[in-house]
Amino acid sequence: MDPQATNSTLDNPLREGLSLERLPSPCAMVIFGASGDLTRRKLMPALYDLALEGLLPPGFSVVGVARSEKSNDEFREEVRESIRQNARRTPIDEGLLRTFEEGISYVAGDFSSPDAYARISEELDRLDRERNTSGNRVYYLATPPSAYAEIACKLSEQGLVQPIEDESWTRLIVEKPFGNDYDSARELNQTLLQYFSEDQIYRIDHYLGKETVQNMLAFRFANGIFEPLWNRTFIDHVQITVAESIGIENRGGYYDQAGALRDMVQNHMLQLLSLVSMEPPPAFDADSVHDEKVKALRSIRPIQPEEVDYYTVRGQYSEGWVMGQPYPGYRDEARVDPASTTETYVALKLFIDNWRWAGVPFYLRTGKHLPRRVSEISIQFHKAPHPPFAENVTQSLEPNVLAIRIQPDEGITLKTTAKVPGPSMRLRSVNMGFLYGTSFLVESPDAYERLLLDCMLGDSTLFPRRDGIEASWEPITQILRGWEATGVENLPAYSAGTWGPEEADSFMERDGRQWRQP
Ligand code: BG6
Repeated sequence: MDPQATNSTLDNPLREGLSLERLPSPCAMVIFGASGDLTRRKLMPALYDLALEGLLPPGFSVVGVARSEKSNDEFREEVRESIRQNARRTPIDEGLLRTFEEGISYVAGDFSSPDAYARISEELDRLDRERNTSGNRVYYLATPPSAYAEIACKLSEQGLVQPIEDESWTRLIVEKPFGNDYDSARELNQTLLQYFSEDQIYRIDHYLGKETVQNMLAFRFANGIFEPLWNRTFIDHVQITVAESIGIENRGGYYDQAGALRDMVQNHMLQLLSLVSMEPPPAFDADSVHDEKVKALRSIRPIQPEEVDYYTVRGQYSEGWVMGQPYPGYRDEARVDPASTTETYVALKLFIDNWRWAGVPFYLRTGKHLPRRVSEISIQFHKAPHPPFAENVTQSLEPNVLAIRIQPDEGITLKTTAKVPGPSMRLRSVNMGFLYGTSFLVESPDAYERLLLDCMLGDSTLFPRRDGIEASWEPITQILRGWEATGVENLPAYSAGTWGPEEADSFMERDGRQWRQP
């Protein structure tokens, strides 16, 4: 890419929030799985958007690697199309797109064949010579997980892992799923660590790249008023909802093996849980943040197999309507076993056994084909202990709820009680709110933009560390074992377009609580 073109966008006001000094050193990114959906839908558009904001280093280059034979030009054409369809900022800047494309090339090859790595190596040498990428490389594994170990091993055998000069660097980004239970995640960590050191490995959890998720840290630790209340003395319970209106799309083969617990809870939702529940880190650097998150994850009380039906609810969608569209039931989806017992909905009650959270339930729920897409963390405080008003006034008094909206309509609201204007003392809940859209007037970058940039900058704060991954698999694996032991009689159906199985409501009612309707 022409450095001039990149620099010409340096004064772009849209760069606010991603500070000027955050410019990575020149580098090349090798994407394994370059023909895949992730590359097309997320990675290339995110790189283009970074280029548009002047956040890519001069000479930044991408080498796409996949099995199918194609020329550089054919690959560039695919990339162009994917950017046109999926870039965050439109209309497309055609001039910038042409410049961006100059840095894109393609290597065809089987991930298991040494020849492919020899060609990658040659291509990287060329980029160092012609585009001054300085020996700095990011390897992005956007492949099926079965290929991770082999690619890491072959990169190492080909001498592509060791930085070629003292000041150059090589990093590895690994996509989810990272293992499918505790043992496999641990094994994958051990395998990757044979070839790369921990500080070279970036395990992606794209929820951590979302602005609102990061804002949780700002909200908790940059304000003086919330942290003193952030504990069992003031908080009744916490709810984390990640509702999706989409189904499994075309991912039946993967999803039927995974299910909602592995697909959403082990990673994204436990990351959210750890951010809500962690202790304040002494500094905002990767290790300090990871240390506190891991401590929180390790404090999750394991659910014993015989307790699993008490602490969890599973569900699977049957046919129904979502936002005016009819959808088939899960078992009729392509590449799904017609007798599948995979859960597309899960609700859990977890406890964090430490001084701060003893006895405070954390209710988590996520599902496919729910009525709308909404992710929210809500902190429900204890009721006022003695409201000095007449009983008929206080009967409907609701507790204070702090709702952190992750998507869409990103923002934070605090539900409080106020007097209804008029001569008598009538009370009603009102919301005090902050909305990202209206407060900052800038569109948040996509999670992948932030994470790709952080990796190039060598900042792993927003990437789970090895022990964090293992700590999040532990309670999940316990639940999976429990489910295996109890069988599937308790797999209720819910119609697509509803808020999950009825059992999920009774699960809350049993505790005298209800799900918040976001
Ligand atoms: C992915 C899951 O990790 O996250 C998908 O595999 C899910 O099943 C997606 O749809 C949700 O991400 P987002 O950013 O749309 O909430």
